[in-house]
Amino acid sequence: MGSRETWATRLGFILAAIGSAVGLGNIWRFPFITAESGGAAFLVVYLLLVAFIGLPVMLVEFVIGRESKQNVVDAFPAIGYGNWKAIGVIGSITGFIILSYYSVVGGWVIQYILGSITGAYTGGAEAYFGQVSSGLNTAGFDLLFILLVAGVVGFGVRDGLERAAKLLVPSVVGLMLFLAVYAATLPGAAEGYAYYLSPNLATLRSDALAILPAAAGQAFFTLSTGVGVMITYGSYLDEDRSLLRDGFVIMLADTCIAVLAGLIVFPVFFAQGIAPGDGGIGATFVSLAGAFTTLPGGRLIGTVFFVILLLAALTSAFSILEVIVSFIIDTTGIERSAATAGSVAGIFVVGLPTAFDLKYLTVYDAIANNVLLLLGGLLLALFGGWVYATDAVTEFSKGLNAPQFVPKLWIWVLRVPVVVVLSYVLYQNIADVIQTIQTSLL
Ligand code: PHE
Repeated sequence: MGSRETWATRLGFILAAIGSAVGLGNIWRFPFITAESGGAAFLVVYLLLVAFIGLPVMLVEFVIGRESKQNVVDAFPAIGYGNWKAIGVIGSITGFIILSYYSVVGGWVIQYILGSITGAYTGGAEAYFGQVSSGLNTAGFDLLFILLVAGVVGFGVRDGLERAAKLLVPSVVGLMLFLAVYAATLPGAAEGYAYYLSPNLATLRSDALAILPAAAGQAFFTLSTGVGVMITYGSYLDEDRSLLRDGFVIMLADTCIAVLAGLIVFPVFFAQGIAPGDGGIGATFVSLAGAFTTLPGGRLIGTVFFVILLLAALTSAFSILEVIVSFIIDTTGIERSAATAGSVAGIFVVGLPTAFDLKYLTVYDAIANNVLLLLGGLLLALFGGWVYATDAVTEFSKGLNAPQFVPKLWIWVLRVPVVVVLSYVLYQNIADVIQTIQTSLL
């Protein structure tokens, strides 16, 4: 085995991690989950969870990764806690499942780019979605998306991941700012902002517990935590730097981009008189495509929007594939290219059902996102807070330029609030997921 690669620059690492965090979750999932869960009230709960539950767990991942310099599974024995290897195994399985349907949605996005250019969905947004979202063409574009991902991951950390992130992440941000300015000029903009940004305190009080499960799933998904992405990306960190500062920057960028996505999507919805509460996996696609066909300059705007979505989805998909590929390389010693090819073949096959029937996609998403991801998060919090705590603090403190109490506070946040909230949410979600499976499949 050759020596392990590292990031070339701090900026490269941060952009790659932001690229992982910013994805379909921010631009596709976030607006529709927000709409389904009551708009601004959801936003408040979500922001709190990102900062106080998601970030602390992300930091556990960074610490494990940087100390061990290993893939998700071998990281645990490498830092002296071989018994906790299961976290890495669960994480890899979760990543595998997520990527299998994430790339199906990535394939839809490619079809929507083509549809925007040719005007294929003009006048028939609903029908177009039906056509795009299941069938042989769906599987074909799914494969295309996976091959794009494999193409980059095959080049390795510096030449693949880092270089792509440096190009794609700034493009996403630039294009989104452009669309947000455009959205602000639409006639429905004020109404859209009002719906999105003024939390109804009464709803917040009465629904906070009900909102919690969806908000927690979304918080973990959007930060890419619970899978081991941040263990893997942290393992390529070479020198001592402030993990807290890096984690904070990543969280902030991810949140700003999700909020920005809402500032685009909600004005567009209201400009077209579309009710944002019409949720569901296809909502963003159907409603937005419908809106783009009637808005001034809609085809161009639609193309730009779906290109943003594709770029963002790619940088997230890279990170999930990297978790799996780095594990295979470290365990078998085979070439990166072979490891990449083998994993994508498996991922494609596992994802196939979701390319032929939306109900499988709903089920995969519910299992991975609402259960496995949070289970990974809970185990990481228990491990980081109660088992690994002393060593974790030592590693966390390297390069940390912060008052003494900060590492302790981090550990205590993990120990109690994170564990309590995640246990509660997981308990709720398991019941929900069983119901989803029953109604979708049986
Ligand atoms: N964070 C990504 C998004 O928002 C999805 C993701 C989840 C990526 C888990 C990696 C791991 O789209």
